[in-house]
Amino acid sequence: SDRDSLFIVSDFANKHYQNILQNHEQGGIGQSYLKERGISGATIRKFELGYSLDAWSDLTDAALKAGYQQRFLEATGLTILKEDGKKYDRFRGRVMFPIHNVSGRVVGFGARTLKSNDKKSPKYLNSPESDIYHKSNVLYGLFQAKQAIRMQDMCYMVEGYLDVLSLHQGGIENVVASSGTSLTEGQIKLISRYTQNITVLYDGDAAGIKASLRGIDLILENGLNVNVVTFPQGEDPDSYIQKVGDAAFKAYIQEHAQDFISFKTSLYAEEAKGNPVKKAEAIREIVTSIAKIPDPIKRTVFFRSCSLIFDIDEQLLISEYNKMQLQGR
Ligand code: CTP
Ligand code: MN
Ligand code: MN
Ligand code: MN
Ligand code: MN
Repeated sequence: SDRDSLFIVSDFANKHYQNILQNHEQGGIGQSYLKERGISGATIRKFELGYSLDAWSDLTDAALKAGYQQRFLEATGLTILKEDGKKYDRFRGRVMFPIHNVSGRVVGFGARTLKSNDKKSPKYLNSPESDIYHKSNVLYGLFQAKQAIRMQDMCYMVEGYLDVLSLHQGGIENVVASSGTSLTEGQIKLISRYTQNITVLYDGDAAGIKASLRGIDLILENGLNVNVVTFPQGEDPDSYIQKVGDAAFKAYIQEHAQDFISFKTSLYAEEAKGNPVKKAEAIREIVTSIAKIPDPIKRTVFFRSCSLIFDIDEQLLISEYNKMQLQGR
């Protein structure tokens, strides 16, 4: 079928990019970039990293020559057809991260520029949606992580490709990335095949905090349990593990894992201090999250913990919750 052809051409591209990284002279540029980022040869092989030549149509030419049809190259987004009929490669001069589905077939690519501060070209380019690649139903690294997720009965959720690689390399193999898209229900359902427990490790910046808040509610709504670890401002899991080392990183995430109530509480605690209006807002914010939990027993446990933290009557929280239900929130 056509879908099969898309898998097959993606596999060809994956091997082509890996071959360039390993054997082509330009591959050395990619190799030294990855080395600089602290990525080992073993990690490169395990995640099948590659490099795309800095040329207009290297992949397209190779694929056509090998007999692959142009329409499949276009359908996967690997080849872009210009109005004048010229064909060129979407990915050029970038480190290639193949994205596998759960059964291990390549469905798309993420591609990082080597330029550190080039405002003209985006840091990452990604494959477009296709018949085999639906961004919202794929998690980067899940294929490599699924056994560890099941064994540990927990899944770490990070933002990016490099976060997955660095943690995996540091011995934390139960880790996946939503890669640019904000976490979706489809992605949570995928994880729920392996575990009901997610720990969110997003970047230590405003965007990361905001994404954590959104992620928490979505995870709770789907009936899974969620913890959160925040990182110092400006760090992400990759930069932090590369900076402090594996052992210190593991200790850090053990010590800083918070359930969603403590996370939200500490987030709002500062401004809520001595300000009853702010405190009421913070409580309402947390009750909103608790309200997303489908399991009434879990809800009860979290109402109790919220009432202890804020020193407020549990019945008051529950009546606030009931009000929300009536308002259909
Ligand atoms: N992303 C993307 N397109 C961009 C920027 C980011 O698709 N222009 C996605 C990538 O999957 C990236 C993730 O969002 O891995 C997180 O983005 P960011 O934190 O900016 O990148 P890092 O992964 O930290 O990349 P690096 O460490 O290489 O700078
Ligand atoms: Mn489809
Ligand atoms: Mn970021
Ligand atoms: Mn990051
Ligand atoms: Mn990073």
